[in-house]
Amino acid sequence: MSQEVLIRVKGVNKQFDLGKTVVHALRNIDLEIYRGEYLSIMGPSGSGKSTLFNMIGALDRPSSGEVAVAGVNLTRLSPRQLAHFRGNHIGYVFQSYNLLPAYDAVQNVCLPLLFSGRSHAEAEARAKEVLTRVGLGHRLTHRPDEMSGGQQQRVAVARALANDPAIILADEPTANLDLVTGEEIIGLLSGLSKEFGVTVVTATHDHKMLASSDRILWVKDGAVDRLERREDLDIRIGKVT
Ligand SMILES: Nc1ncnc2c1ncn2[C@@H]1O[C@H](COP(=O)(O)OP(=O)(O)O)[C@@H](O)[C@H]1O
Ligand SMILES: [Mg+2]
Repeated sequence: MSQEVLIRVKGVNKQFDLGKTVVHALRNIDLEIYRGEYLSIMGPSGSGKSTLFNMIGALDRPSSGEVAVAGVNLTRLSPRQLAHFRGNHIGYVFQSYNLLPAYDAVQNVCLPLLFSGRSHAEAEARAKEVLTRVGLGHRLTHRPDEMSGGQQQRVAVARALANDPAIILADEPTANLDLVTGEEIIGLLSGLSKEFGVTVVTATHDHKMLASSDRILWVKDGAVDRLERREDLDIRIGKVT
């Protein structure tokens, strides 16, 4: 892990105006994420994890403050520039996999490749390569309903990896999986982080998933509660290994 800051979140606030009330989903968040690190965002349901993800992933804009990725200030990009930026630099993994049910594994992984302008032949070759990397070389032509939850999430990870992104954002990627399968997905993400130097940011509220993280950001009521390195966490919870 380098100490190069890849993602810089500065003074970010996000409010949702619901007419009668205003929800302060994020309060003055400052955060630097290094290239190649694996950062877990921990916090109870409703603490602002997904909202923070949407800011980092350029899926939504802050009410105030700035988010910059590789020196590019996302808050200044047009919707078209943002779409281009997302497609080329960020891969997304969601709790519910979000695969297209009528498409097989290869076709699902081909989609972002075709959107970014690859030919069908190139896209298919790359899709097979990344599916093999995530351990699905034997399930290339299976549709989502012909795969287990863990396998579907592997397809989603392959799809996120397809365009060789600098960042993979995974919002509660293990929430629908049993413990062992969830640990396998986390292991896969952390392996990709080490092998390709991709920066991985995951949200979770499962403490058992922290072992692979380089650092852990704890959020509470939309604000940073604390940020700690895993070594320090191990010491704090008395794990002497
Ligand atoms: N689109 C929205 N409109 C209104 N309130 C929202 C919206 N998205 C999130 N919120 C509120 O913002 C807070 C943080 O939500 P969220 O980021 O989804 O939390 P988490 O992912 O940690 O469960 C919650 O109180 C939630 O109800
Ligand atoms: Mg959430």
